[in-house]
Amino acid sequence: MDIMIFKDCEAVAEAGAQVVRNLLAEKPAAVLGMATGNTPIRMYKKLIADCENKTLSFKDVTTFNLDEYHGISPRDPKSYRAYMQKELFDHIDIDSSNTHLPACAKGEDHRVLSHQYEALIEAKGGIDLQILGLGQNGHIGFNEPTSSLGSRTRIKTLTRGTLNDNRQYFDDDDAQPHLAITMGIATILEARRIMLLATGEGKADAVRQFVEGPVSAICPASALQFHNDVIVLLDEPAASSLAYRGYYERVREQKIYLADQLKEG
Ligand code: GLP
Repeated sequence: MDIMIFKDCEAVAEAGAQVVRNLLAEKPAAVLGMATGNTPIRMYKKLIADCENKTLSFKDVTTFNLDEYHGISPRDPKSYRAYMQKELFDHIDIDSSNTHLPACAKGEDHRVLSHQYEALIEAKGGIDLQILGLGQNGHIGFNEPTSSLGSRTRIKTLTRGTLNDNRQYFDDDDAQPHLAITMGIATILEARRIMLLATGEGKADAVRQFVEGPVSAICPASALQFHNDVIVLLDEPAASSLAYRGYYERVREQKIYLADQLKEG
């Protein structure tokens, strides 16, 4: 894992946006895995600004979101579809037919829909860069603690903690879905590259556990230790509980040294 620590969430957003810019410069028809939540919003704003300045284009990009609430209409402002339209898609030159979220309305067969979502990702050639946030309990997507590390897209029951974290977005308890359809951990691990963003002190414990703790279903993000190309972008508060913090900084210095040597050689 490539652990990068920045002074604040603004710098995290800029570093994340730069990873997306680099990918699209190299592969304009890339497949991006998208995340919701508060954390990526700053990064999305930067990508929107790039599009407005005509320095970036999403016209050939395909996207797959990690998750969506069960039984919610895409037109419901609380849906992750509505979030994506508001925070990104409505402001960039992406072809909306290339934007995908898992979805399962009440009464629909979630097993069939989950399988179709996986098949569509595969048909588009797999995900080049999966963007992730991090739940305070270590979840990625809606893979809650105890999610199987080999899981694929499916329905998950949300924990009380996650319901409380996301309560702010819903008017009352009854309106808040307790189920979500989410890419599985094995689905996420198939992305060619993964970039996780975590900011704020509330994420410090989960960051320590997934980066430095054992791989365990109790901390779903720890499964990222199995992947060979993961970038973790943290601000100071989110990095504050890491035991090997000094080491991550030395690794970065040494990477710069190696890159300079290559240029000189
Ligand atoms: C939500 C989403 C995750 C997101 C996480 C963190 O429940 N399902 O994909 O990464 O929680 O959200 P935030 O960035 O708002 O802290």
